[in-house]
Amino acid sequence: MSGSPKRIGLLFGMEDSFPWALIGAIDARGAGDIVASPVELSYLRDSQSFEYALILDRISHEVPFYRTFLKVAAARGVAIVNNPFWWSADDKYFGNIVAESVGVATPRTVLLPHKHRPPNTEAKSFRNLRFVDWNEVFTYLGFPIFLKPAYGGGWKDVHKCDGPADFFNAYDQSRDLTMMAQEAIAFSEYFRCFAIGRERVQLMRYNPLAPFHERYVRDAPPIEPALEARLRRDALALSQALGYDMNTVELAVRDGIPYAIDFTNPAPDAELASVGPDNFSWVVENMADVLVARVRDPRPLELSGTWREQIAARARGAS
Ligand SMILES: Nc1ncnc2c1ncn2[C@@H]1O[C@H](COP(=O)(O)OP(=O)(O)OP(=O)(O)O)[C@@H](O)[C@H]1O
Ligand SMILES: [Mg+2]
Repeated sequence: MSGSPKRIGLLFGMEDSFPWALIGAIDARGAGDIVASPVELSYLRDSQSFEYALILDRISHEVPFYRTFLKVAAARGVAIVNNPFWWSADDKYFGNIVAESVGVATPRTVLLPHKHRPPNTEAKSFRNLRFVDWNEVFTYLGFPIFLKPAYGGGWKDVHKCDGPADFFNAYDQSRDLTMMAQEAIAFSEYFRCFAIGRERVQLMRYNPLAPFHERYVRDAPPIEPALEARLRRDALALSQALGYDMNTVELAVRDGIPYAIDFTNPAPDAELASVGPDNFSWVVENMADVLVARVRDPRPLELSGTWREQIAARARGAS
């Protein structure tokens, strides 16, 4: 061992179990030449240098100041998990385009104009916009329809609508959010999968209809092998295309086909109380492996995952 140890910093918010367990697991692997701790910062100066080799970001979606801090740290050579540039750019609707580029099925989905005008706009701001033909939308999607934000998480503003009256009632409540309307997948099985380092997957049977603390199914029945292989493939393909090293992918299975429902979760819930002891130790150990490997074998700065190449390859294949 020579010189001072390389540092992995954790940037996090209200979580109580995952960050501390991860720090312990990194230190156990780091053999003294890689050490982990919470990030400490106050203000950011243009000439700032950063003492971390890598920062794991669990909270910048809630704290915009942190997002800019991380972009600057990335530009100065700190590895940031997950990539703050792509995280800032991506949304659930565009995610479906990424999914298509890697052969992952998604529900039929449309993106809708805002119900209410965003701040600082008036009628004249919308001269480009024409009325939506709702019959066309409803015919394309079929009821029930899920209405949910394209920039969303935490089940906020998600509505299942059984018919037009329900739908318009939900849409009327959507303020100036960017909403997408989506075909409901009538699923026989539902999985939430951790995808770590774009190479490791933990499949978790998930029951979204159960109360919050019972959604991760304990003592779950085995998964049929062909389905399991497809779930693993899809979770990895999505995470590689998006370039996320820590992600959860939700897949709803209908007629044997997994449909990607919610798969851009760069700060997924990893609390012991939610995911249960087995999934918790899996995510702690695998995350520690991957972060330590990233510090030992750094990668160049990325702006996104591989979706641009995937889309180009598809276009070449189609022509
Ligand atoms: N197209 C769909 N078909 C069937 N179920 C859906 C669909 N879209 C959403 N759901 C259900 O609604 C839940 C919340 O939707 P979604 O995961 O997209 O929102 P979210 O705000 O990201 O939620 P969270 O962050 O809690 O995972 C899903 O777990 C699923 O049970
Ligand atoms: Mg979800």
